[in-house]
Amino acid sequence: MNIQELLQKARINTGPEGDHLGSELLLAFVLDKNREYLLAHGDEDVSAPMLDNFEKLFSRMIAGEPVAYLINKKEFYGLDFFVDRRVLIPRPETEHLVEKILEFSTQTPSALKILDVGTGSGCIAVSLARNIASAQVAGVDISDEALEVARLNADRHGLTSRMRFFSSNLLTAVDEPFDIVVANLPYIGEKRFSFVSKSAYDYEPHVALFGGDDGLGLYVKFFEQLSQKSWRPRLLLGEFGFLQRDELVALFQKFFPDDKIRFEQDYAHIDRMFVVEWPPTV
Ligand SMILES: C[S@@+](CC[C@H](N)C(=O)[O-])C[C@H]1O[C@@H](n2cnc3c(N)ncnc32)[C@H](O)[C@@H]1O
Repeated sequence: MNIQELLQKARINTGPEGDHLGSELLLAFVLDKNREYLLAHGDEDVSAPMLDNFEKLFSRMIAGEPVAYLINKKEFYGLDFFVDRRVLIPRPETEHLVEKILEFSTQTPSALKILDVGTGSGCIAVSLARNIASAQVAGVDISDEALEVARLNADRHGLTSRMRFFSSNLLTAVDEPFDIVVANLPYIGEKRFSFVSKSAYDYEPHVALFGGDDGLGLYVKFFEQLSQKSWRPRLLLGEFGFLQRDELVALFQKFFPDDKIRFEQDYAHIDRMFVVEWPPTV
């Protein structure tokens, strides 16, 4: 069977709503080529061992296992990240946080110190270090396993000299000021706002998904901890979930009654990111 025939067969087996991109990514992985190669070499035969390998991975994908874990790779902000079950798979909507910080950095000539809270695979932190040449970027996580993956990604992108990762329960181990603080904390609720796909529930680390009953438990602690610091970042950004905006406003006002929080939408026009700006401190 050749590449084109195999992909056609996979298409029939996954059905019209099936993950065709996933099948292509799996085959490209098995052949150790990229997707463009598949298109250009459709008539090339797939050897029996490779076919066997593809079929095994394909069945796991059909059973719900995320392709990113099967191929240990996910693209985020144009960069390839190593991922496995120790970390959340980076989501495209999270790229919006990176874009916003890059925009801010172009208006700020000084070397920036950036902190990524709940860094996971390090996708946000590494993308920032990669795109802001003068930035020093730190990432913290409560999961030591996630920190191992983040360090590996920093290393793969040749950024270890400007990056560091350390264990911290939110901001508890952070004892120095940062210009920018970004957080994509777990925000799925266990009782309310509990929008989670079966595949995410079954395969992704629950410490990366769930944020207490209404999903905002970690943001409560995060705002509280930040309010107790002697410093404020110039820019604070965070990602949150569907319908949580009003509760976030109330939460923020409780800890920062004199400050203003604003919101931005994702590509699907859903409120997704909060932004707070504080004046620089001398
Ligand atoms: C939604 S994931 C985000 C991962 C990555 N930043 C991204 O955007 O793909 C949340 C991350 O927060 C971490 N986390 C959960 N509770 C935490 C806590 N109390 N302190 C620090 N990190 C925490 C999880 O281990 C996970 O890596």
